[in-house]
Amino acid sequence: MKSYKIINGILQQVMEGQPSINKNQVLVKINAVSLNYRDLLVTEGVGQWKPTEDRIPLSDGAGQVVEIGSSIKNFKVGDRVTSLITPNWESGSLSPQKLVGAIGGAMVDGVLAEYVAFPENALSRFPDYLSYEEAATLPVAALTAWNAVIEQSPLKLGSTILIIGTGGVSLFALQFSKLAGYRIIVTSGNDEKLMKAKQLGAHHTINYKRNKDWINEVLTITKGEGVDQVVDVVGGDHITESLKCIKSEGIVSMVGVIGGTHGLIDTGMIMGKAARIQGVETGSSEMYGRMLTAMNIHKVRPVIHSVFPFEKVPEALLLLKEGGHFGKICIKLI
Ligand SMILES: NC(=O)c1ccc[n+]([C@@H]2O[C@H](COP(=O)([O-])OP(=O)(O)OC[C@H]3O[C@@H](n4cnc5c(N)ncnc54)[C@H](OP(=O)(O)O)[C@@H]3O)[C@@H](O)[C@H]2O)c1
Repeated sequence: MKSYKIINGILQQVMEGQPSINKNQVLVKINAVSLNYRDLLVTEGVGQWKPTEDRIPLSDGAGQVVEIGSSIKNFKVGDRVTSLITPNWESGSLSPQKLVGAIGGAMVDGVLAEYVAFPENALSRFPDYLSYEEAATLPVAALTAWNAVIEQSPLKLGSTILIIGTGGVSLFALQFSKLAGYRIIVTSGNDEKLMKAKQLGAHHTINYKRNKDWINEVLTITKGEGVDQVVDVVGGDHITESLKCIKSEGIVSMVGVIGGTHGLIDTGMIMGKAARIQGVETGSSEMYGRMLTAMNIHKVRPVIHSVFPFEKVPEALLLLKEGGHFGKICIKLI
């Protein structure tokens, strides 16, 4: 079968035998995968994301079950399924153990292959209205946005949320905020992307590159008060920018590491605003199920920027790195 592997730190296309399954595994023929910012960290071997050995990358895939082990109870041949990023976080609150075994990370092979053998708890069926490409966008970006905006959020109908950027996580955050009835402000460095964000349901948009005083614009929109919650996909020093945007007792949901994993933080402002800094780490399988139910009721369609053929994975990763996308980038295998 065709797959990509990071061998000695270099991503390359390889041919190898189709995996065989044991009694506790499910064999899936992968139809489509999607890219996350995390895949850049893994393929480029950054920090904790550097693979410990030769590794098939990518966490998010969708396909069809083609074979099941004799002990499998919950899946049958023909089921349309997606991978789950953290199979060991089935329910309840987070613990370090529940993050062990994250798919397509430093320690475990991912989904960028024609066939993948999964344990049963690493799969979920998805609603019929979604295509394989659409379903492949869900395991990381959608779940993380759902966790930040719905599961962990105390916001109510009419509360104001500020969403930074228009990449994968950000646009799902926009779509779920719309379902929840929040007032939505979106920032981007690109006017065309902001126009599209408005079409998706953003009430206010701000170009953070053209307007160096973009934080004041957030404050003007909220009549000087600040927003109830920020979804911060940048991290690093950006946390202090986000803190400036929230109202007293507001929440900064710390989702991303684009700006690095360390930053200067105004601890006085955290105290003075009685701010809540909420880290967000993907989500559990139970949360994924609740997200799929809500998406199915409202027929939420993931925003896909482009779909690349399997041979063009390096070009797709480059597009992600350069930030030319609005929403998700997918790879089609079949
Ligand atoms: N905690 C978790 O479980 C989790 C899960 C998923 C992702 N993440 C992290 O979340 C981040 C976003 O992931 P993603 O997959 O959505 O990435 P992505 O699709 O590449 O989107 C990132 C977006 O951030 C915006 N951006 C970049 N630099 C910015 C800056 N300096 N100021 C403001 N906005 C900026 C850009 O929006 P514009 O182009 O519109 O300007 C870009 O499209 C990554 O760091 C990723 O590792 C974390």
